[in-house]
Amino acid sequence: MHLTPQEERILKGEEGHGKRKAIEILVALGEIYGAKRLIPIASAQVSGASFKTIGDAGIKFLEDFSSEVRVSVRASLNPLGLDLRRWRSMGVDPEFYSKQARIVSAYRSLGLEPLYSCTPYLAGNRPIAGQHLAWAESSATVFANSYLKAKTNREGGPSALAAAIIGKTPEYGLHLEENRKPRLQIDIGEIPDGLVPLAGYVVGKTAGRRIPFIKGLDLTADEHKSFGAAMAATGAVSMYTYSEGKGRARTDTSEIEECISLPTSELTAAEDSLKGQEDWDLVAIGCPHCSVAEIKRMARQLKGRKPRSGPDVWFCTSRKVYASCPNEVKVLKKFGKVLCDTCMVVAPIEKLYKSTASDSGKAMVYLPTLGRQRASFRSTAALLGAISR
Ligand code: F3S
Repeated sequence: MHLTPQEERILKGEEGHGKRKAIEILVALGEIYGAKRLIPIASAQVSGASFKTIGDAGIKFLEDFSSEVRVSVRASLNPLGLDLRRWRSMGVDPEFYSKQARIVSAYRSLGLEPLYSCTPYLAGNRPIAGQHLAWAESSATVFANSYLKAKTNREGGPSALAAAIIGKTPEYGLHLEENRKPRLQIDIGEIPDGLVPLAGYVVGKTAGRRIPFIKGLDLTADEHKSFGAAMAATGAVSMYTYSEGKGRARTDTSEIEECISLPTSELTAAEDSLKGQEDWDLVAIGCPHCSVAEIKRMARQLKGRKPRSGPDVWFCTSRKVYASCPNEVKVLKKFGKVLCDTCMVVAPIEKLYKSTASDSGKAMVYLPTLGRQRASFRSTAALLGAISR
């Protein structure tokens, strides 16, 4: 891999131990994937923010690192294991809080923006088309590549942090135009109301490692958010292309090797298989974090209705979105907790609940694994109906 004289100096440790460690991570990755050079990035998005996912070893790594370096480009942080203001009412114990507080403080010393969200693009860190990024959160990565047309690989937490410190990332994978062409065409049937996340769930399983061109996909920005999140959870690729309206860039379909049709019946079959039992302790909405439009829509649907006794309810969003729609947040609060900084997967939900219903295809993958829950999929409308009367 070719390094500039300044990158060589960093690698020799002439700009400090922390920067050397960071560039070593980038060079090692670049060599594994055959990158020729490091390229500048517009921003980084770092995962590995919850004590639940990084543990004591992660705290030690971050505290050592944060004493020596700071990020050199805009970098925001993924959700934490708790809402920093409402962690007691979530039922999180003080020991978890104190470990989480050390992580927050280390990331702050490193200079990360405290967005604590998987939707940085809705909370102030929104890239523009063509920009190179080093984003780690899988749902944000797929949204950035597919909807915003920025360019990022799906980074791990340490490589995103290393890129944020150096301000560069190795040029391989989805940074290169030739790797962004779809190899698979999926002709998708009509997506029934509320099943967009399950369409992503099924497409991810079907596409595996190939970038799909999805013919017939006509979604809003919020629907792309939940579609891509589910696709990245069941599949190994962080990008899809789709037929866009008049005047928009056309997908280059010259390298498509296979065409698969995905009839509506496959989506309803997935819905049946993810139905689960109705023994919920928790109803969790907001994976990925809710947008302002989603909060407003739910508040409209719940207005005039009364809460029904039953499971706890979490609406998860970013603090920025929370602050943007106070009246609607007030409506949602009659029905449950509106949580910021965290989500149903990275919070220590396994200590609080056993059975969770969600409207998220991504959550159907991670609630049973990371969250040790019996998970049930329902559309947002069905969940709102279940918690109100
Ligand atoms: Fe976001 Fe948590 Fe889902 S990080 S995408 S709400 S698993």
